[in-house]
Amino acid sequence: MGLSLYKGGYRLIMEEKNRPKHIGIIMDGNGRWAKKRGMPRTFGHKAGAKAFRELVKHCLERKIPYLTVYAFSTENWKRPQEEVDAIMKLLRDYLDEAFQHEDENKDICVKVIGSTGPLAPDLREKIARLEEKTKGNTGITVNIALNYGGRDELVHAFRSLAEQIKEGSLSPDQVTEDLISDSLYTAGQPDPDLIIRPSGELRLSNFLIWQAAYAEFVFMDVLWPDFGAKELDQALEEYAGRSRRFGDITAAKS
Ligand code: FPP
Repeated sequence: MGLSLYKGGYRLIMEEKNRPKHIGIIMDGNGRWAKKRGMPRTFGHKAGAKAFRELVKHCLERKIPYLTVYAFSTENWKRPQEEVDAIMKLLRDYLDEAFQHEDENKDICVKVIGSTGPLAPDLREKIARLEEKTKGNTGITVNIALNYGGRDELVHAFRSLAEQIKEGSLSPDQVTEDLISDSLYTAGQPDPDLIIRPSGELRLSNFLIWQAAYAEFVFMDVLWPDFGAKELDQALEEYAGRSRRFGDITAAKS
C-alpha cells in the first residue's frame, strides 16, 4: 500500500487483495442535505443522483468490479407521491442517458435488482433495454436496487425453490447456501465485501441481508450528496485496514 499524487490530491493505491470486489452503498441523507439548504427533498435526491453518477466513475477508476446502490426500497412507496415520482424520474433520466451516451458508458454493465413487476411499464422497458445493451460491458457491474428489499428478495428465492421442489426437479437436501445465493438477484456475483452507509445512521435497512453476512461496514457522517472521491477513499482505506477472518482465527483478505 502506498500513496501517490492523483488529480491534485493524495490517493491511496491499494493492492488488489486489499481492494473490495463488491461495494454496497446505502445512499442516505438526501432529504437532510436539502433541508439544510432550505430546499425541497426532491432537490436532495437530484444532488444524490449526481453523486451516484460520480461514484460509478470513481469505482471504475479504482478497479472495483461490482457496485450495488440502494436507490428505492420496498418501503419507500410510503413516501409522498411527489417524492416517489421525483426519484422515479431521476432513474428514468439515468437509464435514458446511459443508453444514449454509449461511449462514456462503454465499461458499465447496469442491472436493476428488486421486484420490477410493480414499476411503471415504460420504466421496466427502459431497464430491460439498458440491461440488454450493457450486458457485455466488463469494467464494472452496477446494480441499482429498485423496489428492493432483502426480505422480499429471499421470499422470491424461497418461492422459486419451493416450486422446483413441488415439481420434483429439486429435493430439499439439495437446498444449500450456494443454491440460495444463486436464486437471488445477485446470482453469479461475489457477495459485498464492504457496505458503506453515509448520513450517520447505523442500520442495514433490509439491504442485501443475505449477501452481507461477512461484509465489513463503514458508517460515515457525511450526507449522500456530499459523498465524493475523498469519502470513497476514506472508506476504502478503512476497509484495507480491517482484518477479515470469515470465522477463522488467522487474518485473511479474500
Ligand atoms: C435516502 O435518503 C435516499 C433515497 C430513498 C433515494 C435515493 C435515490 C437517489 C440518490 C436517486 C437515485 C438515482 C439514480 C440514478 C440511482 P433520504 O431521502 O431518506 O434522506 P433523509 O434520511 O435525509 O431524509
